[in-house]
Amino acid sequence: MKRPILTIAIVATTFFSQAQKKTIDQRVDSVLKLMTLEEKAGQMNQYNGPWAATGPLTNDDKLIDQIKEGKVGSMLNTTGAVRTRDLQQLALQSRLKIPLLFGQDVVHGYRTIFPIPLAEAASWNLEAMERSARIAAIEASAAGVHWTFAPMVDISRDPRWGRVMEGAGEDPFLGSLIAKARVKGFLGKGFGNTDAVMACAKHFAAYGAAIGGRDYNSVDMSLRQLWETYLPPFKAAAEAGAATFMNSFNDLNGIPATGNGYLQREILKGKWNFKGFVVSDWGSVGEMINHGFVKDNKEAAMSAANAGSDMDMESRAYIQNLPQLVKEGKVKLTVVDDAVRRILKKKFEMGLFDDPFKYSSEEREKQQWNNADHLKAERDMAKKSIVLLKNDRQTLPISKQTKTIALIGPFIKAKSDNLGFWSYDWPDDSARIVSVWDGVKSKVGTDTKMLYAKGCNINDTSTAGFAEAIEMAKQADVIVMNVGEARDMSGEAKSKSSIRLPGVQEDLIKAMQATGKPVVVMINAGRPLIFNWVADNVPAILYTWWLGTEAGNAIADVLFGDYNPSAKLPMTFPLTEGQIPIYYNYYNTGRPATSDSDRFYRSAYIDLSLYPKYAFGHGLSYTSFSYSDITLSNSTIKSTEKLIAKMTLTNAGNFDGEETVQLYIRDLFGSVVRPVKELKGFQKVFLKKGESKEVMFTLTVDDLRFYNDKLQYIYEPGDFKLFIGGSSDKTKEADFKLVK
Ligand code: BGC
Repeated sequence: MKRPILTIAIVATTFFSQAQKKTIDQRVDSVLKLMTLEEKAGQMNQYNGPWAATGPLTNDDKLIDQIKEGKVGSMLNTTGAVRTRDLQQLALQSRLKIPLLFGQDVVHGYRTIFPIPLAEAASWNLEAMERSARIAAIEASAAGVHWTFAPMVDISRDPRWGRVMEGAGEDPFLGSLIAKARVKGFLGKGFGNTDAVMACAKHFAAYGAAIGGRDYNSVDMSLRQLWETYLPPFKAAAEAGAATFMNSFNDLNGIPATGNGYLQREILKGKWNFKGFVVSDWGSVGEMINHGFVKDNKEAAMSAANAGSDMDMESRAYIQNLPQLVKEGKVKLTVVDDAVRRILKKKFEMGLFDDPFKYSSEEREKQQWNNADHLKAERDMAKKSIVLLKNDRQTLPISKQTKTIALIGPFIKAKSDNLGFWSYDWPDDSARIVSVWDGVKSKVGTDTKMLYAKGCNINDTSTAGFAEAIEMAKQADVIVMNVGEARDMSGEAKSKSSIRLPGVQEDLIKAMQATGKPVVVMINAGRPLIFNWVADNVPAILYTWWLGTEAGNAIADVLFGDYNPSAKLPMTFPLTEGQIPIYYNYYNTGRPATSDSDRFYRSAYIDLSLYPKYAFGHGLSYTSFSYSDITLSNSTIKSTEKLIAKMTLTNAGNFDGEETVQLYIRDLFGSVVRPVKELKGFQKVFLKKGESKEVMFTLTVDDLRFYNDKLQYIYEPGDFKLFIGGSSDKTKEADFKLVK
């Protein structure tokens, strides 16, 4: 028995060493030819490592034996140079010595934790987001990670859904640009470099539209809406070089995404000609039984493989059933071969056949462990992500000469709660995470007295700490509060029906406001929250999300004016949960409301305002910007011509600052109705105080395209409006016409 195995191993090794001369496709084929059906199923099988879990575990495998038998193609939640090296050694004991791929949710940083993706999206700063992804890739790849399950590019219009924290918000245009920037960042200089990791655009598709914002729930939507709103960031990610896609837990119009041939075969691998591979979500192949779509794991394997899911994460459906399904003719060998080819191709492109250990370098891992440049970049990204929601009477910035500052609230001294949901608990972490207390302390001089009271816990009913907080507040010149959600209150399986400030935190704010001292409230959260009393009564509010390792330093930069906030909301903030879903790019309806007093012409509620609390694109600066009227190069353009829109932006306030100038269009009459506004461009413009600058946008017919009722991506001649402003609800406008 031993001899043939040895012979095949030698043949395989020879194949690999001669391989340089061959193209990757030829090399893939030469390996494929040697593989048994069982080994092919093995490549399509992904297991969780025994160290951490991000889903319900099945602990019934003899993992080591299976790796040695070539029954595992990839592992997740397995990081660290030593662990990945050890497991790779086992894979190299298999008959064909095909290396393992190590995947991990490196969603907003690995060792250096960056702001959660929704916070980064608020920066509207594509370069900074690309750099953040780059750093995540450098750190993760040094720890043996080949592949990140990011970016998450799900559009969502529902802040009740806990996973909005992982995405880029509600807008397909902004979401597409961010998807691209992140994929580019993960890839760096490209495959073959030891610091490039494969990206994974997830969750394909429409997961963010779960009914009622309840995680894992069904999605029911028109295909036109799917194409118009939910697919664009996926397309952008594929075009930017995402090596893989992950399908999703939800069913889409009755077909689970994992078994959905329309999504995976027709759109992704067909129309978009995607050459990478698709991994299932955790257990989503097997979960099709619960959906009521298939009766057992075998049928699940058949459905998922035939629909184009190439790798099975944690269902064990492929490894246990695919060989038999092929023998029975229920899954064609060509389907299996295509999936295995796609997977092997990535392993070749990553250089793993040439050096299976190239990513697992303890030395590199050590160098990246506490990298000062990375922390600096994190601080920069974090301050760019902070949104100034309100600043009456110029309460902010606070003077560094302030005599006494009372720092109040359950997050002032928090450490790991600054990290957010998809972050890792490293053993020595808390010393590195900068709390607000530490950040402020390193900013002010010794003449400034800092007082502290926690006031209350994040999520209980006790007001016992209020008295101490009031005592501190009374002695202070300014009260700085940090309230919000703990890091596990938004994220996967964290949907909420009430998105108010948890516990008695709002009451604590009321008690502080009652002291008559100026109050600044900073809100940590993974989603838009509702805090109307605070918004209406407290003079200054900063939305501080979950900002990562350097949170406290970034916050101090903003509090004391060393950085002038420039972020803008990537999601609409509702007035109450009853308004959800609420988003800026809605259709006008036949009875559009123009004001809250409109009784008949209102597609709104009688007991609620039409308007959200904060609009998409809202975000203030310590300075103020004024917008001139818009001038257009022409009021009529042909489809072959460009339209140039110009306006002058002036920094009319007392601080230097950066504005995010936003351009929207509205197609007034279409063969299908069009949104009242659609973002089509934006620019970040830095101006010194008193300075003015002309800002110019160029539009072509491609910016005016949309999906018609036949799902064709067309433009139609007709009348348009163009809007430019600092928020979706505060714009100047101009009209133009598109002719043939
Ligand atoms: C999540 C994915 C994640 C996977 C692996 C699933 O529960 O939906 O986003 O990549 O687990 O951790």
